[in-house]
Amino acid sequence: MISVEGVTKVFGRNTAVDNATFSVERPGMIGIIGRSGAGKSTFLRMMNRLTDATEGRLLFEGRDVLALKGAEKRAWQSQCAMIFQQFNLVPRMDVVSNVLHGLLNRRGTMATMFNLWPAADINRAIDILDRLGIAEQAPKRAEALSGGQQQRVAIARALMQDPKVILADEPIASLDPMNAQVVMDALRRIHDEDGRTVIANLHTLDTARRYCDRVIGMRGGRIVFDGTPDLLTTAAAREIYGADENFSESATSTSIEALEPETSADEAYAARLLTN
Ligand SMILES: Nc1ncnc2c1ncn2[C@@H]1O[C@H](COP(=O)(O)OP(=O)(O)OP(=O)(O)O)[C@@H](O)[C@H]1O
Ligand SMILES: [Mg+2]
Repeated sequence: MISVEGVTKVFGRNTAVDNATFSVERPGMIGIIGRSGAGKSTFLRMMNRLTDATEGRLLFEGRDVLALKGAEKRAWQSQCAMIFQQFNLVPRMDVVSNVLHGLLNRRGTMATMFNLWPAADINRAIDILDRLGIAEQAPKRAEALSGGQQQRVAIARALMQDPKVILADEPIASLDPMNAQVVMDALRRIHDEDGRTVIANLHTLDTARRYCDRVIGMRGGRIVFDGTPDLLTTAAAREIYGADENFSESATSTSIEALEPETSADEAYAARLLTN
């Protein structure tokens, strides 16, 4: 499905991603971990064509997406949606319009400027918000929502593109543990129910272990680990993070497990997910 072949990115004298090679045979939930500067974001940005690779090929269903240009490149970018740590919503715009912006690649500028959306698209956007447990937020401005809700709006915007792949760059790094769990559960569910591949850069080991089928560890631009979470021992983690024997897993922990359920709408949603 995806074949990454020697993908490399050089910035001046610094090799940010060094000969990355792996393949994804079937839709999966993949976590990329590694310390700051390991090349995780650069890799996702190359995959989404936000930045050009220096070398290598990245085949998706047989086509090298790194070589696409113009309309074909934009078509790939809509098949391969991206989610960011800072949500990247338009803060003063309402939630539904933010979600509808997932269709931007496919629409004319005039219609977008005047916020003219077909009713079918608006209904679909609301259905997606509903699926993520935030339909009642639809008319609000994005900036009025909590971080966890905003990230779910960003996921809804990604789903509006009906992507085959969702790339998430530290999707929970700005969230408290409760919201982090809601957002990770949503990504996992999208993978499980829709069969979309999710590739997420994660800054904590426990999240990668808990949510992913496969973990890729990067260090200094290179892939130094690629395996199932059960192979990700403390020794393997130490190797990825380049830490000595004083390395403590708690340093990369989000303590998602230590949550106490409460009663806000978000939390009720989280509780529902947990009992399903
Ligand atoms: N636009 C750029 N110009 C020059 N160097 C860059 C650029 N973007 C990234 N780098 C460098 O490439 C390397 C990898 O950076 P990258 O942001 O991919 O790391 P990361 O694993 O995502 O780190 P973090 O966990 O801090 O987000 C770093 O050495 C970084 O300084
Ligand atoms: Mg990064």
